[in-house]
Amino acid sequence: MDKKRVAIIGATGSVGQEFIQSLNNHPWFEVTQIAASERSAGKNYLDAIKDASGIIAWDVGGEIPEYVKSMTVRKVEDIDTSQLDLIFSAVESVAARDIETKFAADLPVISTSSAYRYEEDVPILIPGINDDQAELLETQKKNRNWKGWVAPLPNCTTTGLAITLKPLLEKYGAKKVMMTSMQAISGGGKSGVSAMGITDNIIPYIPKEEGKVRLETKKILGKLQDGKIIDADIKVSCTCTRVPVIDGHTESVFVETSEDIDPQKAKELYGEYNKQISVVGLPSAPKDYYAFHDDPTRPQPRMERAVGDGMTTTIGRVEKEELFDKGLKYMLFSHNKKMGSAKGAVLLGEMLYKKGKI
Ligand SMILES: NC(=O)c1ccc[n+]([C@@H]2O[C@H](COP(=O)([O-])OP(=O)(O)OC[C@H]3O[C@@H](n4cnc5c(N)ncnc54)[C@H](OP(=O)(O)O)[C@@H]3O)[C@@H](O)[C@H]2O)c1
Repeated sequence: MDKKRVAIIGATGSVGQEFIQSLNNHPWFEVTQIAASERSAGKNYLDAIKDASGIIAWDVGGEIPEYVKSMTVRKVEDIDTSQLDLIFSAVESVAARDIETKFAADLPVISTSSAYRYEEDVPILIPGINDDQAELLETQKKNRNWKGWVAPLPNCTTTGLAITLKPLLEKYGAKKVMMTSMQAISGGGKSGVSAMGITDNIIPYIPKEEGKVRLETKKILGKLQDGKIIDADIKVSCTCTRVPVIDGHTESVFVETSEDIDPQKAKELYGEYNKQISVVGLPSAPKDYYAFHDDPTRPQPRMERAVGDGMTTTIGRVEKEELFDKGLKYMLFSHNKKMGSAKGAVLLGEMLYKKGKI
């Protein structure tokens, strides 16, 4: 088969580097163009990711893929859309707004930024969780008179929460959720928190994060009806913190349900979803979408982040929650740069390709 030609915008950043890795030898997609800011434009990729002291700042495990080493990083305006089938965008949201608007006029855009997430005709997609909402992309195209569309992923903290809530909501009717996150340093991007700021420390506030988690969770778990997403009827409260962990977000969750649930029922539920999840068999899908642990010492970032190459969501510490008549508490782990951004975006690309949207 002819591979789809893709460009990565923001290819030098924290998520962009993960995209480079996730698309290495991909069976369906081939990276043919890359772009970043004016600072990097015109340089070959290796020079573009050197820091001020000349050290190559490659933040992804393993070697830098050969295919990208001598590719020239372009300015956004030098990207040739006539030679592309798809754009992956990994740029901060203010810059992303103009960039994604420009590209969506001609091409499908899959984005890790928040620029378009809260618009009425834009679904926030997690492959395997709300694939049916992808139909809204057709409405978006028509509304905006675009040839393409923008399909954003959620914020990386919403991802694990929505993934673990979906089966509970469908089978046991989740009503209220309280979550405290312990988020990795890499979630802040390459210019995020400083080593001095985060070492021996916990930062109890991440700007705008909690509002994003509240809005996005309800939208993702909502229903597409008559061309609109009706938010899920669920109350979400959260506290988002930054902790000295390199990759992977851990979250402590309390959920009140309508029907009675216990840890054994939850274990069976996630096991059933593993068998029926829509993404099974796609190139970037993990063997198990959910990992469920009875061992009370799991999840731990150092142990979970490599499971399913960062695409498995791990659940542990599951107990009946006495605060509610019916409900559970649990902890989850979700890899912010894999399922929560770049590789999750590639999986989304695969799902949308299978649906004939790319
Ligand atoms: N980090 C995560 O775990 C994570 C998870 C989910 C979603 N996200 C979202 O993904 C996006 C990228 O995040 P990140 O962590 O990768 O950020 P980052 O490390 O700061 O990287 C930003 C990238 O965007 C490029 N860029 C900045 N301004 C640009 C412009 N005006 N035109 C073109 N390129 C520009 C940068 O190029 P230069 O190198 O040339 O400056 C760099 O390649 C953000 O919207 C973020 O919120 C991040």
